[in-house]
Parts: sequence; structure tokens; C-alpha cells
Amino acid sequence: MLSEGEFHTSIWEDGVEVWVTQMGNLMNMNTAFVDRANEIVAIVDPFDAEKWCSKLEEEGLRPTHLLYTHTHRDHAAGFPGMIDRFPDLEVWGHEDARVPSLLGNIVFRKVDFTNTWDCEPGESEDWSAGSIEITVTHSPGHAPGHVTFHGHGVYHAGDLLFVRSAGRVDLPGGDPQAQQRSLIRAKQILSSLPPDWRLIPGHRYDNFKGEVPDWISLEDALKHNYFLSNITMIE
Ligand SMILES: [Fe+2]
Repeated sequence: MLSEGEFHTSIWEDGVEVWVTQMGNLMNMNTAFVDRANEIVAIVDPFDAEKWCSKLEEEGLRPTHLLYTHTHRDHAAGFPGMIDRFPDLEVWGHEDARVPSLLGNIVFRKVDFTNTWDCEPGESEDWSAGSIEITVTHSPGHAPGHVTFHGHGVYHAGDLLFVRSAGRVDLPGGDPQAQQRSLIRAKQILSSLPPDWRLIPGHRYDNFKGEVPDWISLEDALKHNYFLSNITMIE
């Protein structure tokens, strides 16, 4: 189990590194895709800018891209600190995650996207930078413009899915029916990926087999996640 701010690194078969860390009281899980040859570092939902920047500095790297699953305050917590230090960062999220009408609510934090995806719910877009190639899937329900990312052996679920459970839908901008459709789409995607890929949840919340793991295999997620294993296919 990762301690606060500890980083786990794995190198995928194509040379892209996948870093995973856990930070904060809500045990936010952050993933980064690192292409050293091209000096590209794309971080998903960085929680603590200082911890991220000192780790990158140790490794002789600097961040180049921030990728947002959604703009809830905890997921966007590191945005101000990252952009202060690196004002030329590319900042990506779904167009619907700008949520101008919800920014007055404490649950959200303004993230100034430099680039956006605009695919429809359930649809995916490919995103790449250097050797990093990931698929972005629009998965609203927990929050407007929520997306998931998969590639290089991981499916970063954000707050769509945790190890055993799924993201809440009762916050402003939540939509239970959209969440149901996003979970069905996630089940299709997970079923199509290699079973030993890892599902990285947005938070480390759930007990599984007597511990609270940082991630589980897609095979285990499909079998043991309450929502994935029980969801009804409407179509
Ligand atoms: Fe959230």
C-alpha cells in the first residue's frame, strides 16, 4: 500500500513509464505517464503540486501536460501550484468539465484548460504526446465532463469507479442515469482490455481481500466491483 506521497513506477513494454501515487486525506490516486526520451510528463489530477514537483526534480524531469478526469476540488487541488511553477503547461479536460455555472459551489475548482475534448458521453478520443498514447472516454454522471483514461497497461477510472464501488451522483452536476450509462460503457471497455491491466481508482477507498489496495486488475474489477458485476445492460 502506498504511503502518503509515495510513488510506484512501472515501465510498460513500449518504454513509457507509469507512475502512481496517493495523496491527501481523501486518498486521491494520481497517475502520470512519462516518456523520458521526449521529455514528456503527463499527470492525471495532480493533488499536491509541491510533492509532484520535488519528485520530478529528483528525476530530472518537468511536467508538460495535466490531464483532468473532472474538476472537483480535490482532483484539481494541485492546479494552482502546478500552473504557478509551470505557466506553459498544457492543461486538458473535457469541455463540459468547465462548469461555469457550478464554480460558485465549494465542490468545484476552476481549472483553466488550454485544450479540451468534446466527445459525446460514451465516446472516446485518442490522445498522444511523444510515445504516450491513451484513450480518453467521456464518462459523465459523477460530475459533468468526467473522463477516464486508458493506455500503457492502466485504466485510470477517476471517480467513475473505485476498487469495489463507484462514484457518488448526489453532488451538484451529478446525474444517476448518465452514471449508469457510463458504468455500462466502462464494463464494455474493461472487458475488451487485457485482464491483467490495472484499474487505478480516483480514491483508495475500498477493502478488497482483507486490504485496501492501491489498484486491482481489470479481471478482478469486472468480477468483484459491485457495480461492474451487477450492472444491467439496457441495450
Ligand atoms: Fe469527484
